[in-house]
Amino acid sequence: MARKFFVGGNFKMNPATRAEKVKLVETLAAADLDPNVDVVIAPPALYVIPTAELLKAKGNSFVKVAAQNCYIKSSGAFTGETSPAQLADAEIPYVILGHSERRTLFHETSAFVAQKTKAAIDTGLSVILCIGETLAEREAGTTLAVVEEQLNAVVPLLSAEEWSKIVIAYEPVWAIGTGKVATAAQAQEVHAAIRNFLSKAVSPSVAENTRIIYGGSVSEKAAPELASQPDIDGFLVGGASLKPEFIAIVNVLR
Ligand code: G3H
Repeated sequence: MARKFFVGGNFKMNPATRAEKVKLVETLAAADLDPNVDVVIAPPALYVIPTAELLKAKGNSFVKVAAQNCYIKSSGAFTGETSPAQLADAEIPYVILGHSERRTLFHETSAFVAQKTKAAIDTGLSVILCIGETLAEREAGTTLAVVEEQLNAVVPLLSAEEWSKIVIAYEPVWAIGTGKVATAAQAQEVHAAIRNFLSKAVSPSVAENTRIIYGGSVSEKAAPELASQPDIDGFLVGGASLKPEFIAIVNVLR
């Protein structure tokens, strides 16, 4: 079965105002998007439910909404956190976990990201699981060791069936927000290695069916060559998801 192309827009802590957010979502809701692509947008926590409601009000059931993070518990005294159960109750189908900004700025370890992934999957959410190496790690030749360590934390916690709820986002940290997109060959090499890892660590069928998307300075210009690679199944877009060019990135295969 062919893997369905997947394009996520990670708004990060943007836009600054509700008015801008409404304009962004309304533009997307009205856009002519390739129906053969899964499109998911991840606004800041404050805007998650209003974004889902706005899409619904506009009659758009095609664009799905993701949270950018969640905790491991269903409820309790965890100030500032959102639970996977709360997201599921709010009918938010996806959550981004393990983004490099969470790993670096908020000190999330691979073990913690794996616990979150398990909690989200147990609650019925789908997870966009982010992995990737820093520039120093790439230059030290440890890229594959780094992404394997990040994935190895998750592997023992999930059944083979549960991998159908995971989209892996390979995001080299040196490419995030830098304008320095990985070349198609660099990205393809790592995506193929991740698929090979999944084949050995989980199963050949999981490897074949799991979407591995690329993130890091994806632009309208860079998207076509990246999308033509056999192991690149879509994108996780940061900065460009706040611009009209996001629509062109979604429609890259047209
Ligand atoms: O989650 C998205 C990535 O961090 C990529 O962000 O497209 O702004 O480089 P960027």
